[in-house]
Amino acid sequence: MTTEPTPSPPLAVARTVDELRGHVRAARRDGRSVGLVPTMGALHDGHLALVREARAADNLVVVSLFVNPAQFNDAADLARYPRDERRDRALLEAAGADVLFAPSPDEVYPPGFATHVQVGDGADRFEGQVRGPEHFYGVATVVTKLLCIAQPDDAYFGRKDAQQLHVIRRVVRDLNLPVRIVGVATVREPGGLAMSSRNSLLSAGERERAAGIPAAIAAARAALARGEHSAAAVRAAAEQALAAHGAQVEYVALVDEASFRALDVLSGEVLLLLAARVGDVRLIDNELLRCGAEEPANTSGEAATVA
Ligand code: PAJ
Repeated sequence: MTTEPTPSPPLAVARTVDELRGHVRAARRDGRSVGLVPTMGALHDGHLALVREARAADNLVVVSLFVNPAQFNDAADLARYPRDERRDRALLEAAGADVLFAPSPDEVYPPGFATHVQVGDGADRFEGQVRGPEHFYGVATVVTKLLCIAQPDDAYFGRKDAQQLHVIRRVVRDLNLPVRIVGVATVREPGGLAMSSRNSLLSAGERERAAGIPAAIAAARAALARGEHSAAAVRAAAEQALAAHGAQVEYVALVDEASFRALDVLSGEVLLLLAARVGDVRLIDNELLRCGAEEPANTSGEAATVA
């Protein structure tokens, strides 16, 4: 006799804070743990890796979908940010998420909203320098709100946005928010390009130029493997690879992962940060590399999942 697989319950959709709190309260009453995956939608396998980690660890998996105007410094970037809630819902249902929290801008920022979370450490460098520190204030504010709304045991963020993860960990530590922040490895396309909602905006020619990013990571890794200890030299190798592909370098930096401070002399593990522009699309990436080793610190190859 064959047994039918148990159908998973359909994805519930909460549009308001009260609706979401209802789901969370019911889970808590039953002693179930809650995992939150904040997203801005246009979901891809990178987002779904976060959902899968949450599914493995928590009983109630809440995914938020909110394109947060407060973190966009560029109105055009906000206007053309890809949106497709129906597709996202189908993907989340297949991935086994329980609740989609998809509030309106007014639900998150009601008229009169006047409180912002300003992070004093790390918000003004790299991404904060290019996009303005307001970008991370916008991220910190919405993530703090989402954590207060959903009150999860665990919240999942991608290492793909390493500086964002750094800023969020800082907020949670500084404000004693009772949540465990889980960093999830970067999911990459077969050619090594990190998955991003913005990849869908790339033309075929721009995709070829975007291949400069994995090439730059490989060039930095090779320089370190040759025993290079000068950050300037490793940076130059990465920048050369980006330029050779026609990607416009915004910044390349080698930082200490814990402090997010730029390093001049490299030793042990170093975090390579890259930001480049291809046409109108900004792409960022990072990889933890080890000085002097053939292999990166925690990866098994360019195209593989990278922590
Ligand atoms: P978004 O860009 O939609 O990303 C949602 C989450 O997915 C983030 O934690 C991000 O780091 C992670 N992610 C994106 N691409 C990934 C990849 N290739 N591999 C693994 N994880 C990946 O980041 C945001 O939204 C927003 O700033 C948000 C945190 C939701 C606040 O508005």
